[in-house]
Amino acid sequence: MSVPVIELREVSRRYDDGPPALHEVSLTVRPGEAVAVLGPSGSGKSTLLNLIAGLDRPDTGTVTVDGVRVDGLGEAGSALYRRSKVGMVFQFFNLLDDLTVTDNVALPARLAGMARGEADRRAAELLELLGLDRHARAHPGRLSGGERQRVAVARALMNRPALLLADEPTGALDTAAGQDVSRLLRDLNAEGQTLVVVTHDLALARSCTNRTVRIADGRIVEDVRSDAVATGAATLRAVASGTVASGTAASGTAASEAGR
Ligand SMILES: Nc1ncnc2c1ncn2[C@@H]1O[C@H](COP(=O)(O)OP(=O)(O)OP(=O)(O)O)[C@@H](O)[C@H]1O
Ligand SMILES: [Mg+2]
Repeated sequence: MSVPVIELREVSRRYDDGPPALHEVSLTVRPGEAVAVLGPSGSGKSTLLNLIAGLDRPDTGTVTVDGVRVDGLGEAGSALYRRSKVGMVFQFFNLLDDLTVTDNVALPARLAGMARGEADRRAAELLELLGLDRHARAHPGRLSGGERQRVAVARALMNRPALLLADEPTGALDTAAGQDVSRLLRDLNAEGQTLVVVTHDLALARSCTNRTVRIADGRIVEDVRSDAVATGAATLRAVASGTVASGTAASGTAASEAGR
């Protein structure tokens, strides 16, 4: 069996005097899986994602992502971890309006120390693959919601993360734009990108994931796998397998992982 991308062991988190936001949650996600996290409002979905992203720490239990013990990281270690291992997509895009689309996408690589020319080249390749090249010089405020979310996905992929996390990625989009983003996530996963998507949207969960984890009152109450994810566009293989910048042919290893 492959080494897990995510390994949560008996993770609990409680805020103030409230009931536990998460209660002894254990979860293993393997390379190439696409997991939808479903559950009512307040059930602990974002808390779970934040713990995986190192944005928050559990009170008890351990969080390991791609071999890194995330719960033990300090502030600097946690920032470095996020830059190198995870890409994040949020409901409201969180793009910087003062920067162009290209600069937004290139930012994670620039923060990780990549030279400007190289970062701009990879950003341009991602934008082209995601059908956004004509907006490269625009500012995000000029784009539609669906376009903005695709820019956010491009930015999340910039540093070739082991894990892509999305919290309600279609929550602010109309149906058509939501379907665009859903297709994009499905294609990325079909090419091997490990994915965890928090959503209220059952259609999104069905169309772009192959495993459904249901949370209620901070506990996992259901965990079901399916093999229903359709095959994605071959053009995205290079993005997911991280071969875009080097220009070499995609190996297909990542894609075959997805089929497990
Ligand atoms: N920073 C915080 N401070 C205090 N309480 C919090 C904090 N973050 C979450 N909570 C509480 O923890 C519980 C779980 O919240 P969480 O945001 O994980 O729910 P969610 O499933 O993502 O809900 P939604 O679908 O509405 O986004 C809620 O009761 C919430 O009020
Ligand atoms: Mg939430």
